[in-house]
Amino acid sequence: MTDQYAVFGNPINHSKSPHIHRQFAEQTGQDMQYSKQLVNENAFEKNAQEFFAQGGKGLNITVPFKINAFKFAQELTARAQRAGAVNTLSLQNDGTILGDNTDGIGMVHDMHNLGWELRDKRILVLGAGGAVRGILQPLLAEQPQRVIIVNRTFVKAEELEKQFHDLGNIQARTYQQLINNELSNDQQFDLVINGTSASLSGDLPPLPENILANNACCYDMMYGAEPTVFMRWAKENNAPHIADGLGMLIGQAAEAFYLWRHIRPEVIPVITAIRRQLTESSK
Ligand code: ATR
Repeated sequence: MTDQYAVFGNPINHSKSPHIHRQFAEQTGQDMQYSKQLVNENAFEKNAQEFFAQGGKGLNITVPFKINAFKFAQELTARAQRAGAVNTLSLQNDGTILGDNTDGIGMVHDMHNLGWELRDKRILVLGAGGAVRGILQPLLAEQPQRVIIVNRTFVKAEELEKQFHDLGNIQARTYQQLINNELSNDQQFDLVINGTSASLSGDLPPLPENILANNACCYDMMYGAEPTVFMRWAKENNAPHIADGLGMLIGQAAEAFYLWRHIRPEVIPVITAIRRQLTESSK
């Protein structure tokens, strides 16, 4: 019987995951089916239980159920434990369900594909919500020189500093400190990651002009047919390397696929195909 996979979310219509996994399956010759399922707000657990009871092998989980999935999993990977959220559930040989979080490693792999170095780099992360929590463990595992987290609500950044400081040099700061040039004697960054949801409403966090180092990279975890406000800011400030989060979306899917099928799909042709579709659909 063909192995069944799905993505659960609400809303779900926009999800590109079925399309991405179908391309991975085709590339690697895997016999699998991948569908999307709209899950009612209070029905996550029931729907997930039914899915696995009917022989399903794995689920991707998107907004707003990543914390439900974290609680649902019977075992967690270290990175999911750190993230406090699960985006991939996987049926194991012993019948238990493993919860993983592949968002952060998906982003790090995307940066590697872009040729961006992370080791010993000075990194600024904007935002301290669920999306940022999900990337910190894989980011710190790359051994950057420092990670500064800036958030509108400072206590959330502070909380992340507390929870991740054992993994590397991570410090919480306010936008005001950034603007007033009060971070340290070196206020330049090799990489700035926008992990806020500000792009969704066309907003830009308050950023001073002088924070980009010479060869700086700017990464928006959001993506779209058009460059985000943050990407436009990066261009105006002469960042030589700018990317959106489409590669992260496909990278996290590739890691989930690997967990389920133990085979690594090629991400670049899928990124190219989906980028083309995005551009065409916006015309
Ligand atoms: P997600 O799961 O996408 O991370 P979230 O947990 O709601 O969503 O977090 C959204 C993040 O974007 C938060 O860090 C939020 O800042 P606050 O914690 O202060 O709310 C940040 N954010 C959203 N809109 C913003 C804006 N206009 N300027 C700066 N930060 C913004």
